[in-house]
Amino acid sequence: MNEMLKTKSVGNYIELEDKYGAHNYHPLPVVLAKGEGVFVWDVEGKKYFDFLSAYSAVNQGHCHPKIVEALISQAQELTLTSRAFYNDSLGPYEEYMHQLFGFDKMLPMNTGAEAVETAIKICRKWAYEKNNIEENKAIIVVCDGNFHGRTTTIISFSSDPDSNKNFGPYAPGFISIPYNDLEALGQVLTLPNIAGFLVEPIQGEAGVYTPATDYIAKAHQLCKDNGVLFIADEIQTGIARTGSLLAVCGNCTCESKCERQATYVKPDILILGKALSGGVYPVSAVLADDEIMMVIQPGQHGSTFGGNPIAAKVAIAALDVVKEEQLIQNARVLGELFRREIQRIIDKNDLLVLVRGKGLLNAIVVNDSTESSTAWDICLALMHNGLLAKPTHGNIIRFAPPLTITEAQLMECIAIIEKTVLNFTKK
Ligand SMILES: Cc1ncc(COP(=O)(O)O)c(C=O)c1O
Repeated sequence: MNEMLKTKSVGNYIELEDKYGAHNYHPLPVVLAKGEGVFVWDVEGKKYFDFLSAYSAVNQGHCHPKIVEALISQAQELTLTSRAFYNDSLGPYEEYMHQLFGFDKMLPMNTGAEAVETAIKICRKWAYEKNNIEENKAIIVVCDGNFHGRTTTIISFSSDPDSNKNFGPYAPGFISIPYNDLEALGQVLTLPNIAGFLVEPIQGEAGVYTPATDYIAKAHQLCKDNGVLFIADEIQTGIARTGSLLAVCGNCTCESKCERQATYVKPDILILGKALSGGVYPVSAVLADDEIMMVIQPGQHGSTFGGNPIAAKVAIAALDVVKEEQLIQNARVLGELFRREIQRIIDKNDLLVLVRGKGLLNAIVVNDSTESSTAWDICLALMHNGLLAKPTHGNIIRFAPPLTITEAQLMECIAIIEKTVLNFTKK
């Protein structure tokens, strides 16, 4: 063993990452070694509540035994065949996804960004082959403040300089409009060659911006009226995080095909990732009906690992857990409690300005400039007090615990946040 690691000191591990790893992240100075449910432990044995959940990938809680068991048992049978052959896990997984989400077909990928790329490709191909758009002219509308991943195409339509500065030349074929602005959407949809509208039902990375309650339904209708595909990126908001199976389900509490629910919007293309695997394995998926999905034919898109047997078994287990443990309902009820309690704290001090979010995807805005280090410093103080959360942008802190959190645990966390905020002094 590396001599450095024998001492198991936090500083040593940080030093190793600093020295040998690319500096493409700015982590909190905590080194985690174990996770179970809503808790993680650092290398010195200190226990924390996890209020990031690996950017909403660990909705089902860390190391959920049922999901881990699915991983282990499948790994002992068959791990990877590639799609050159059939395997006995993928078909049943695809059928499960069809029954749960109500789309004819699924295209399995691994990471979120890959799934977004897949959706873009499907949308363009559909535009040329089914919607009479001249080849290479298709435009996809996106929103300012979006976050859809890190590939060169995706960062081409990001409005965040950290994401795109000096990574050009940028891919053409995208127009960005303000988020939560139906008028802007209505106008842009009248332009020629618009193929699709790619949108997050809540902008998570941007700072948990929740649009007007009727935005998604009306945007969907505008797309329909203009013959444009409505593409929902639910990589962060999906799988119960916002108190419904999908954020586009609005207030629905059902756990399967939501067509009967008045507020349900069925996207033309749905993109899932993150919690589709409970954070146990990289699994993402793109779902669409035949009319759209069947534009992709053999050899036109794929991934060596996409749809592998472990991913299939892990995803089924992860979705079973969402149902069995009623995570939709828990996210909804405890999300309301969280916002109510944080509002109470906001009302009695001036360090925090507002709380916003849906279900258990929430953010608190700190009363300081976006360039200040106050949000980061509050996160350091929270860490010291046993709760891990991270600023999203500038003065916004995201709070997204595993959806398995109990009311008693949440109240313990509220007490930690309250104590931290009340004792905090700005540097
Ligand atoms: C809405 C959204 N889309 C796409 C992605 C990219 O997913 P991945 O990091 O797995 O590529 C993320 C990740 O945070 C996301 O929040």
